[in-house]
Amino acid sequence: MPDNSLTPLLIEVNGLTKKVTDSSGELTILHDVHFTVPSGATLALVGASGSGKSTLLGLLAGLDIPSSGHVLIDGVDLYALDEDGRAAIRKSTLGFVFQSFQLLPHLSAVENVMLPLELRADPDARQKSEHMLSRVGLSQRLHHYPKFMSGGEQQRVALARAFVTHPKLLLADEPTGSLDAATGEAVIDLMFELNRELGSTLVLVTHDPVIAARCARTLTIAAGRVVIDSLQHRPASTSPVPAVAKAGLPVVLMTTCPVGSAITVPEPFNTTTDMNFVANFFAAANLSS
Ligand SMILES: Nc1ncnc2c1ncn2[C@@H]1O[C@H](COP(=O)(O)OP(=O)(O)OP(=O)(O)O)[C@@H](O)[C@H]1O
Ligand SMILES: [Mg+2]
Repeated sequence: MPDNSLTPLLIEVNGLTKKVTDSSGELTILHDVHFTVPSGATLALVGASGSGKSTLLGLLAGLDIPSSGHVLIDGVDLYALDEDGRAAIRKSTLGFVFQSFQLLPHLSAVENVMLPLELRADPDARQKSEHMLSRVGLSQRLHHYPKFMSGGEQQRVALARAFVTHPKLLLADEPTGSLDAATGEAVIDLMFELNRELGSTLVLVTHDPVIAARCARTLTIAAGRVVIDSLQHRPASTSPVPAVAKAGLPVVLMTTCPVGSAITVPEPFNTTTDMNFVANFFAAANLSS
C-alpha cells in the first residue's frame, strides 16, 4: 500500500451531515461523514440507490449547503466561503460530471464543452473542446444540440466538459451510467489517463464494481454513513453500522441497479431544473456578461 503520509490532502471531510425537511418530516441524508483524500488519489464511492452518494459528491463540489461539518478542498474550507467564493474554487479546481448531465440545451455540443474554458478566457477554447470531444468519440457531433443527441452522447459531452480544463479534482457521478460497455471503458480509461498524466484526483460514484476496482480506494456508503473504507479494512465510521451494510446488501443492490435508472432519481440539489444552476456552477456572475 502506498505511503500517502507526505502527500498533501486535496479533500478533507469532517463531521459532514446533511438533513432536509419535507412534508413527512426531517430526513438525515448524510450522518457525520469523515474522510480525507490525498492529492492524485483515485476514490470510488459505492452504495445502494438512495444511500447518499450524489448528495456527498455535491457537497464536495460546494453545490449544496451541509447542515453541519466541513469540506476542505486544497486546504480551503468551502462552506466558510460565500457562493461566489465556492464558484471561484469550482472554476479553478473542479470538473464535475452530473448524474443527469446538465447540458445547456441552447448550446451545441462543442459550445457546452467550451463553456468552462471561455469563463477562463482561454483563447484556444474551441480547438481544445473539439479535441476533447474527439477523445470521447464525438467528432461527428460537434454542432448537435443536446435534444438531438442520445443519452450516451449527452453523457460523453458532459464528460468532455468536465475534462477539458484538466481539473485538479474530477468529481463524476455515475460517469458511464448511460454508455455501452466499450464506450464506458474508453471513458474510464480517459479518466485514469488524466489521473496519471496530470495528477488529477478522481472521485467517482459508480454502481459498477469493475470501475470501483480500478480505483485505489473505495468508500461504501449505506444510509448516509461511510460504512466501509477499503484502505482500513474495517468499518470507517464511528457511527453505528446499519445492519443492512453489515449484511453486504449495498453491494447486491449496487450491481442490480438498471443502467439509466439514475436519470429518473431525484437529484440532491433543489435547482437542477434551473439552467442558471449550470452557469452558477462555474461563476455566480451572469454567463452572458
Ligand atoms: N432535497 C431533498 N429532499 C428530500 N430528500 C432528498 C433530497 N435530496 C436527496 N434526498 C434523498 O436523500 C437520499 C440520498 O439521495 P442521493 O441522490 O444522494 O442518493 P444516491 O446514493 O446518489 O442514489 P442513486 O444511486 O440512486 O443515484 C435519497 O433517499 C433521496 O431521495
Ligand atoms: Mg446518485
